[in-house]
Amino acid sequence: MNFHVMTLFPEMIEQGMATSILGRAMEKGLISLNAVNIRDYTLDKHRRVDDYPYGGGAGMVMSADPVVRCYRALQEKMQGAKHRVIYLTPQGATFTQTMAEELAREEELVFLCGHYEGIDERALEMIVTDQVSIGDYVLTGGELPVMVMMDAISRLVPGVLNNQESSEFETFHDHLLEYPQYTRPEVYEGRRVPEVLLSGHHARIEEWRRQQSILRTKRVRPELLEKAIEEKLLSKKEMKFYRELLEENEKE
Ligand code: ADE
Repeated sequence: MNFHVMTLFPEMIEQGMATSILGRAMEKGLISLNAVNIRDYTLDKHRRVDDYPYGGGAGMVMSADPVVRCYRALQEKMQGAKHRVIYLTPQGATFTQTMAEELAREEELVFLCGHYEGIDERALEMIVTDQVSIGDYVLTGGELPVMVMMDAISRLVPGVLNNQESSEFETFHDHLLEYPQYTRPEVYEGRRVPEVLLSGHHARIEEWRRQQSILRTKRVRPELLEKAIEEKLLSKKEMKFYRELLEENEKE
């Protein structure tokens, strides 16, 4: 997976990606990062990349030309390789695990980070294929969002996670949140690890974990649990557990 990021702060992206699992994946050559500075492509003698918005209003808008010229240089470097160009913006479609899975199948991904009050719409029309938001809140720029996306995508690239870190059973598997985890000691400040986890009885442990997932999802993200039920991802036994939960709630 080759990531290309057009940004005004390439060091921020490089530093953010250099550590831990992603750093290791880059060393292994499983992913690569090419962060390019949009400012290097301005023809302005003061290296300006923004200007006042037509029609007035607060803030500055990133000019089309440095962005388009930066992209064309990238395009040349990629030698015709097929690629999507993703613009990070609160106006985009919300990033999801499903979207991460889809993007992880691409070979080349180009990201465009905005700053100020956005980018001249014409540059977006000319080069962008997808507009993506990481959630309903406004950040100062696209750098943190692109790092979030690259992290979520990279861990799905084969070989990036080792067996122990493997993402096979995890949050959003079957639309359910993850069950609680415990490690030593058995008692911490008077709090015991749930007995079933010490039993060595694998089937019972699995059943308890699924029930915990259902409980948590119901409490925190009921709409996800509805989806799991709709898609018939709960077993008969789990549906019985769920109905009992509902009955208990009604009594309260
Ligand atoms: N830029 C600013 N806020 C953002 C968000 N929530 N998602 C993606 N890009 C952004």
